[in-house]
Amino acid sequence: MPTSRLTEARQRLATPAVAAELAAGLAAREAFISPKYLYDALGSRLFEAICELPEYYPTRTEAAIVARYSAEIARAVGPGATLIDLGAGNCAKAAALFPLLHPAQYVAIDIAADFVRDAIARLQQRFPHIEMTALGLDFSSKLDLPDVVRTEKRLFFYPGSSIGNFTPDEARAFLQRLRAACDDDGGLLIGIDLVKDAATLDAAYDDDLGITAAFNLNILRHVNRLIGADFDVLQWEHRGFYNEGESRVEMHLEAMEDLSVSWHGGARDFSAGQRIHTENSYKYRQSLAVGLLEQSGFAATHVWTDPDNWFAFIHARAVPR
Ligand code: TRP
Repeated sequence: MPTSRLTEARQRLATPAVAAELAAGLAAREAFISPKYLYDALGSRLFEAICELPEYYPTRTEAAIVARYSAEIARAVGPGATLIDLGAGNCAKAAALFPLLHPAQYVAIDIAADFVRDAIARLQQRFPHIEMTALGLDFSSKLDLPDVVRTEKRLFFYPGSSIGNFTPDEARAFLQRLRAACDDDGGLLIGIDLVKDAATLDAAYDDDLGITAAFNLNILRHVNRLIGADFDVLQWEHRGFYNEGESRVEMHLEAMEDLSVSWHGGARDFSAGQRIHTENSYKYRQSLAVGLLEQSGFAATHVWTDPDNWFAFIHARAVPR
């Protein structure tokens, strides 16, 4: 059954841990909301639309790399993997790999639980012979895989440069947890966005149609539902820009006027121009990306890139412990 507006409206309130995390971020001197809350059902759909935008080069650049080097990728990975998709969303990227990789099992994990379950229900009809499981969980701080997930040849699939949404230290810790969650026959297929000119990056994260702005602003409505906050999206504006010194795109929401916001258990005033930081998207140099994997217990076997060197798609194998 597709996720309807009704199911979204009925979505459960935050758990105490989620409520505490959100409240702490809103009350912090430099307010922030974790980017994982961008992905409620509507946010997941808005992100699908972002991936179709001419300005948002990562999705199509990565797809072109995968299409061009599909045979090499298949050879590097080998058949029969347990393909574990981290942040699977609509599962389209993994589905494009099925005819090449012939995975033994496909495990789609996403914080947007209903969204990924719907996607798997549709995908299972197209690929009836692949064993599939959808898991609605937040894998960003710990990864507890249930027993249904095979332990043989675990291949983590982390496309779209989502790794860039962690700080480099967090990214290393995250990749180390992936290494710990597979045996010596494990591996990783990861997409990492590379450093490029600021104008290209600025446009990719602040498109002319305002889809990225809607996507960013929608986080406020999600927070309203989760902790009973009273954000008015009309009082806020999207800011997305490349911070060259930090090698990252920053996404913020900026208050357009003096205002106050309250939520279950707290409140805060914002003055005009004050911002809530919603996301970073770190851009790497290729050598640093490979180094990050090495520091995490993986060894890159192949780095595939596009002709402009805008994006890297990397296969890495687990280094035996
Ligand atoms: N993982 C995506 C990225 O860093 C997410 C993203 C794209 C995003 N555009 C955004 C997040 C705008 C917040 C706002 O490229």
